[in-house]
Amino acid sequence: MQFTDLKTQYTALKPSIDARIQRVLDHGQYIMGPEVKELETTLAAFTGSKHCITVASGTEALLIALMALDLKPGDEVITTPFTFAATAEMIVLAGCKPVFVDIEPDTCNIDVSLIEARINARTRAIMPVSLYGQVADMAEINAIAARHGLAVIEDAAQSFGALYQGRRSCALSTFGATSFFPSKPLGCYGDGGALFTDDDRLAQAAREIRVHGQSARYTHTRVGVGGRMDTLQCAVVLGKLERFEWELQRRAEIGARYRSLLEGVEQVAVRPGRNSVWAQVTVMVDRRADVQARLQAAAVPTAVHYPKPLNQQPAYADLCCPECCPVSGALSQRVLSLPMSADLTEADQSRVVQALHSALAGLPATAAA
Ligand SMILES: Cc1ncc(COP(=O)(O)O)c(C=O)c1O
Repeated sequence: MQFTDLKTQYTALKPSIDARIQRVLDHGQYIMGPEVKELETTLAAFTGSKHCITVASGTEALLIALMALDLKPGDEVITTPFTFAATAEMIVLAGCKPVFVDIEPDTCNIDVSLIEARINARTRAIMPVSLYGQVADMAEINAIAARHGLAVIEDAAQSFGALYQGRRSCALSTFGATSFFPSKPLGCYGDGGALFTDDDRLAQAAREIRVHGQSARYTHTRVGVGGRMDTLQCAVVLGKLERFEWELQRRAEIGARYRSLLEGVEQVAVRPGRNSVWAQVTVMVDRRADVQARLQAAAVPTAVHYPKPLNQQPAYADLCCPECCPVSGALSQRVLSLPMSADLTEADQSRVVQALHSALAGLPATAAA
């Protein structure tokens, strides 16, 4: 069993992915070929965003969004420490200061009730992360941002396809930034990502920044980056879109089945009015290392997202004390992600659940946390 089964997906989609790759090899426009525009048009329509700008990765999407907003050195961006490093890393690379706000103990998304206390005259933006596949509380975040004149960038690397009050992740704020890393809900076969916005001026800025700040060939209107997504990777995503709706449905079914089979085990909560695309199916357990070892012995692969919140990482230690986000700190010791993909079979899923129940039941009582 694989943690993320990309092989079965490829087998199912081989005719469409191979044909799309072959088309690129035939026309030879490897940079900014026609598949780039086709993917952008398709994804803009799918999310309900006015603009989609494909970029080299989810990381690059965050950086380009921050650059397009024209933030200045010393500006502050509020975010969560319970995320992949790229979120805070890009804020620092854009010359700004990440300000960490703790998370909700049940959804693991940013705790909106703590945001306003961290806003000051230097705050320019809020960058919530829609973790594990569920959108953060965007209505409340947007309301806070509107009250204080801030931009909102949704780090939607894990939530492409998710719904929030009937609207799609990525189309809910100033910018939505997603990743097509291979194991994401919609992935390519390398690195890729996309930015979404309804703002014409910001979309134009992002398009220019992605090609070294060029407004026309060799006219560098602003400082940019080499941030394009390859035509071949766009072709792969187009191929995968052929059954993406089916995959979302399967993910919902598998997520619901995990939920009921794991009753009694602490799980990430999904709030009313939202769904999860289950980028990760994550449970919270005590004595995680023991549980993980037992699952490994039963040939069930697992992963930890994330073992240390960013405020406890050496690179960000000077931004915030290790104890400043206690919920993130506590959950980083307990979260455990289980195998998940649209092609996960019922038999394999049952084996995961049974192995987890046995692992939890088999922990020596004396050593229980
Ligand atoms: C929350 C989050 N943000 C940003 C990224 C960065 O995306 P990429 O790997 O495409 O650069 C990831 C990818 O793992 C992520 O999970």
